[in-house]
Amino acid sequence: MTDTKKSIHGEWSSRFAFILAATGSAVGLGNIWKFPYIAGENGGGAFVIVYLLCVVLIGIPIMMAETLLGRRSRQNPINTMKALAEEAGADKNWHYLGWMGVIAGFLILSYYSVIAGWASAYVFKDFTGSFFDADASEIKGLFDSFIASPVQLIFWHSLFMLATMVVVARGVNSGIEKAVRFLMPSLFVMLVLLVAYAMTTGSYDEGIEFLFMPDFSKLTGDSVLTAMGHAFFTLSLGMGAIMIYGSYLPKDVSISKTVFLIAGTDTVVALLAGIAIFPIVFASGQEPSAGPGLIFQTLPIAFGSMTGGWLFGLLFFVMLVFAALSSSISLIEPAVAWLVENKDMNRKQACIWSGSVTWLLGFGTIFSFNVWSEFKVFDRTIFQLLDYLTANLMLPIGGFCIAVFAGWIMTQQHTEQELNMPSPRNYQAWKILICYVAPAAVFLVFLNVIGVL
Ligand code: PHE
Repeated sequence: MTDTKKSIHGEWSSRFAFILAATGSAVGLGNIWKFPYIAGENGGGAFVIVYLLCVVLIGIPIMMAETLLGRRSRQNPINTMKALAEEAGADKNWHYLGWMGVIAGFLILSYYSVIAGWASAYVFKDFTGSFFDADASEIKGLFDSFIASPVQLIFWHSLFMLATMVVVARGVNSGIEKAVRFLMPSLFVMLVLLVAYAMTTGSYDEGIEFLFMPDFSKLTGDSVLTAMGHAFFTLSLGMGAIMIYGSYLPKDVSISKTVFLIAGTDTVVALLAGIAIFPIVFASGQEPSAGPGLIFQTLPIAFGSMTGGWLFGLLFFVMLVFAALSSSISLIEPAVAWLVENKDMNRKQACIWSGSVTWLLGFGTIFSFNVWSEFKVFDRTIFQLLDYLTANLMLPIGGFCIAVFAGWIMTQQHTEQELNMPSPRNYQAWKILICYVAPAAVFLVFLNVIGVL
């Protein structure tokens, strides 16, 4: 692998462009929709602490590993694993890791797009004044009747998938970079303003207490797994999204600094979302464990009652859709890059193929909320099953393998050269985390869930 090698798909125009794109991938529905509702379902404080620990001890080192793998080979995750295994003289079966990532990307996007469709529909609902002066039960009724309608969900899911495919078809430099450039700062400002609103609800302290006061008796093996899985999900790890973005990263950029910035931003956004949402949950007499509808049943109350709430709500849901879009493009990019590199397709054809498959798969999630809501496998609806399979199993397994590969299979010389850290001490710290701490932590959490520990 030479230093001058570049991806055939092009390269980010700068370090800043990579930061934007990778942050765009990381920050999405995971932070604003998923984090609050799973924190609510799993009892709050203690769950949040486990999640934060997982981000620091497992997420950050693995994010560095994924980026360096991608940048070293400059190909899609499947070819990357093949090429790097060859370079290290290791078994060529490592490329199955790339395959698992591509499949995980399809499965995640299939439900991600449905939820992003909800957010899109809420732009429209706000626009038509549906939240105006509505109380908590009216807002809940609105949400319940919305998800009960397969036709509406199919419409919004289709629209969102189409938008994703159009952006991806335009390619890394024009499509992806432009889509994320203006959105991150705006979303951030809106969340801060929502936190300010939450302070006026009278239940701010209760919300903060729920989110940050740990009660470890509420933790179960499964909630620890969910917290760990979420660290992977929210940082876009374990399926090749960060790897493929790393493959477009210029050679001279410091991976460690960049990764800290991305993971830090992602975490702050999730915490801000939690701080904004829980006071509203308590003030409106709702349950933190309301499930996937949580933000859709709480935030509109704020938008319906505050001055300027109509415009604010409109902007907020537009931002949320864009945040979801900058994540969804990274979910499908590994598959698209593979189709282009290995199957001789152009980007447009690759998008049509992969987009159609994901779109169809999305129907499973759509029907989980209405016509098939009683259909359960292992006590879970299709949506819950997909979420569990990907976030709690595939991503952590993928991440575990990436850690083992970067820590044990690649030579020290190669990882050291890619990371190019200013002090050998920092490199040693990464090495300990990636060789021992991260894989052992994932392993122990799995043992715990299957009841061995
Ligand atoms: N990180 C994204 C979010 O939090 C979701 C995602 C997962 C994106 C895995 C890419 C890969 O919304």
